[in-house]
Formats: sequence, C-alpha cells, structure tokens
Amino acid sequence: MQAKVVIVGSLNMDLVTRAPRLPRAGETLAGQSFVTVPGGKGANQAVAAARLGASVAMIGCVGDDAYGEQLRSALLTEGIDCQAVTTIAGESTGVALIVVDDNSQNAIVIVAGGNGHVSASVVDGFDVLLQQAEVIICQLEVPESTVGHVLKRGHELGKTVILNPAPATGPLPEQWYGWVDYLIPNESEATALTGLPVDSPASAESAAKTLLASGVGKVVVTLGEQGALFASQERVEHFPAPRVKPVDTTAAGDTFVGGFAAALADGKSEAEAIRFGQIAAALSVTRSGAQPSIPTFAEVQGYQP
Ligand code: RIB
Repeated sequence: MQAKVVIVGSLNMDLVTRAPRLPRAGETLAGQSFVTVPGGKGANQAVAAARLGASVAMIGCVGDDAYGEQLRSALLTEGIDCQAVTTIAGESTGVALIVVDDNSQNAIVIVAGGNGHVSASVVDGFDVLLQQAEVIICQLEVPESTVGHVLKRGHELGKTVILNPAPATGPLPEQWYGWVDYLIPNESEATALTGLPVDSPASAESAAKTLLASGVGKVVVTLGEQGALFASQERVEHFPAPRVKPVDTTAAGDTFVGGFAAALADGKSEAEAIRFGQIAAALSVTRSGAQPSIPTFAEVQGYQP
C-alpha cells in the first residue's frame, strides 16, 4: 500500500527517569524509575499517524547499534514503511534523556546521532515516497537545510505540507513559510518563532496572525490543557481541550500532529482533524512514555468525555 502520510524526521531512544521534580543546575536527585522507550518526534508522529488510521512511511536515519534496530522494529510493528530508515555505519542512534516529574512535566536533552545524517541527498533517494504521499510532515530534530529542502519539494509536488517546528529556538527561515500549509507550534515554539508571549488562546491568536502574515497557509497553536487555536486568513477558532488527568505529557504534541495528519489524509475537515488529534493527544497524556502512550483509532473513536 502506498503511504499517504510521509514523515521526514528523527528517531530517538528515550532514556526516561521519573523523579519527584526536575533537578536544578548542579543538583543530584534520586530518581524513582528508569526505562528505555522508543521515541523521537518524527518516529512518534509516524506511529501516531499509523495507529490513528493512516498508511505511513518514515524517512530518517539510525546508527548501527542496538537502539537503531529496536527503533526500526518498533515502526515495522506498526505497519510503517521503513525502506527509507537508513542505517549509518559507525554512528550512534539518536537518544533523548528525559526526566518526568510528579506533576507530569518533563525536561529533555537530545543527542542527534543518526538524525544528523538525514541530508537532502538521503531524502532525494526516496523522492518517490514524497511523490506518492498526500501529507508530508517535518519537525526540527534533523538538519535545518534538510527540513527546508523537504518543505520546498512537498510544496512543488502540491502535497499538504505540515511543519511541527519542534524544538524551535528562534525564528524560522522566512522562505519556508510559503511552503507550509499547516504550521503546528506549541506555546513556547510560537513564542520562539514570533518573539510574542504565548500563554493563552488570545495571545496564540496574535502569534498566529503574525505567522499568517509571514506567508504560512494555516496555523494551529497547541496550548496543552487550554486547547488549540486554529487560524487561517479567513477565520480563527479556539478548540477547548478534552479534560484528562495527566501522567506524562511526553509526545502529546506528536500524537496531535500524527492524528491531525491521519484525519486530513482520510478526507476529514480541519475542524474534525483538530478534534480527533486533540482526543488522541489527551489520551496519550494519561499514559507514560512516548510511543507506548499513543492511542489507537478505536480508542479515540470510543472516547467518552
Ligand atoms: O516529543 C517527544 C520526543 O521529543 C521524545 O520522544 C524525545 O525523543 C524527543 O525527541
């Protein structure tokens, strides 16, 4: 089956500790548990889109180590096309060092490893996947030049191009905006992109309007428990979040992006896709870990507020 959703992005092994709180600079804290869990924003979004109903292909790179094999195998188990998950000899697989505290907040340090090898030429070797896609998704855990290349190519091909600018540390290259159909930042990413404070639907609307003025097609700012703010040239709409008791917010944003993309690829309206992604993300925060927390299509369909 040809993949309708193609993700160009990162694969990380997440090394996750739970601790009562996040450590301060110079402090040693006793953690309560440690697990290794498949993650990486790109791979998480691929798993989310697949579990939530889409046929999916992943373009990315892993090192030639055990983590690389485990991450590939995790994607294959979900039925994801991994022909474009390339193994880089002599390189380590990307890792994310994650601490989750008792308030279910997290802090993450990533080391790129294989993700740093996702070059434009690697992607060009799998251009047929981009040609066959309906929706193409990028994030920012692979080299910036590659992200720009994919956004441009996706736009040239007339595909629906989604950019989740995570993790963003500052403004994006201006020329990218015209290639992006849906820009999906969270609060802090919207702030990094615009320089505006974003902590509410009203402030998200101001940031979204700035981003629309830069040439992006449509914007969805995710606001955690405050929901999501959709903005296009024609309209602005706030979507409240489903109420859940959070356990671990890791990969909630990825679950939203994957669910939103799967619903769009299935022909759903933007509003339906946002609500679907929100329910999926809400369910994901009730469970621990990145990929293990992502719900299935049936779970989202069966969700009762
Ligand atoms: O978005 C969550 C992801 O960010 C984690 O799985 C981790 O790998 C980091 O990339």
